[in-house]
Amino acid sequence: MAKKINIGLFGFGCVGQGLYHVLNNSKGFKANIVKIAVKNREKQRPLESSVFTFDKQEILDNPEIDLIVELIDDADEAFKIVSYALSKGKHVVTANKKMVASHLQELYNLQHEHNVSLLYEASSCGSIPIIRTLEEYFDNEQIEKLSGIFNGTTNYILTKTIAEKLSYEEALKQAQEKGFAESDPTNDVEGFDAKFKAIILALHAFGVIAKPEDVLNIGITTLSPHDINYASEKGYKIKLVPTVKRLTQNEISIFVLPKFVPVSNHLYSVDNEFNGVIVDGEFSGEQFLKGRGAGGNPTGAAVLSDISALSYGYKYEYKKQKQSPDIKFSNNALLKVYLRYNKEEDLKKFEFQNISEQYTGGEYHYVIGTIDLNDIIKNKAYLIKNKLFIGVVGEDISAVSKPKESVAKKLILN
Ligand code: HSE
Repeated sequence: MAKKINIGLFGFGCVGQGLYHVLNNSKGFKANIVKIAVKNREKQRPLESSVFTFDKQEILDNPEIDLIVELIDDADEAFKIVSYALSKGKHVVTANKKMVASHLQELYNLQHEHNVSLLYEASSCGSIPIIRTLEEYFDNEQIEKLSGIFNGTTNYILTKTIAEKLSYEEALKQAQEKGFAESDPTNDVEGFDAKFKAIILALHAFGVIAKPEDVLNIGITTLSPHDINYASEKGYKIKLVPTVKRLTQNEISIFVLPKFVPVSNHLYSVDNEFNGVIVDGEFSGEQFLKGRGAGGNPTGAAVLSDISALSYGYKYEYKKQKQSPDIKFSNNALLKVYLRYNKEEDLKKFEFQNISEQYTGGEYHYVIGTIDLNDIIKNKAYLIKNKLFIGVVGEDISAVSKPKESVAKKLILN
């Protein structure tokens, strides 16, 4: 690749502008943004109009452009852009977690068939260099568990509403103004965004490929003052925690649920828009990475790092999948949870394997017990509709002893 890289950029929102700023202020690394494709013709933009185009082919078919950087919001359109660019032999950097998580196999195939590289460090946990850490540093160590805070918006809302007593609406508004939230913040608060990131990281940490529709995500929308009081009485903070856990040698579970986090957990001190990732390796034990998980400049910095990596020919090798071709995704996990319910009938919906604590008083009822992840999945719609709150308590996650049929998805490597 030429020393000074010519970039065709898609999208000039928060991350696009962050990249523009980071690129122009980076000491030492030089790259030109030749053209920027945008959608909205009416919007006022801070650069001269000649740099913008409304025609994606003007970038995709320009032989002077070495590299495509895709930073748009629409995952379907992003996939069209990225797959076209890869199939034309262009390297691509993207930050689109939904697009990447939904098309892992196809994106791998395209890279392999056309001998090009797709990098997406910015898709997961903003500025934290987690994908390359998993690919390069942990390439030969088996990972047992990966968990963390992968969504800045929910963490910001939880921090501001609980510790600083802001209203939910005000905290969300601030997260939107600061450029942390998705354009549709349902993706943040219902845990979809965290789920996409967990799926991407699960591939690089364990070699497993999971489909978003098979992975449970429950967010923070049903959190009530009762749950917050329970947490503070016990000395916990409530965080939205995606977890990827090895259940057996070849079975990996992935889920996104709120969690009651004790002070001894690294995530306890991860507040506001910060993200944190705990990687638990077979030999190294726990390692903890913390950084800004959202916002234009931190995410732009991750994109810059990928552009720089491409300048020396870097590609993901998907090493974990090559090492463990039989790995399967499974929801056959047992978890210890707190469930707040409204009436006896709610509790009957759930098949707890055991209940270690139960409280009933006035309008507030909860149980703490062990439950099969499949049972939570089955009751997700009921739980949301009836405003029950569920959160993980403790670290115990084990395989269900008599597994039901597991959902196997395999990344086929050539
Ligand atoms: N909405 C996302 C978040 C942006 O809040 O983490 C970064 O992916």
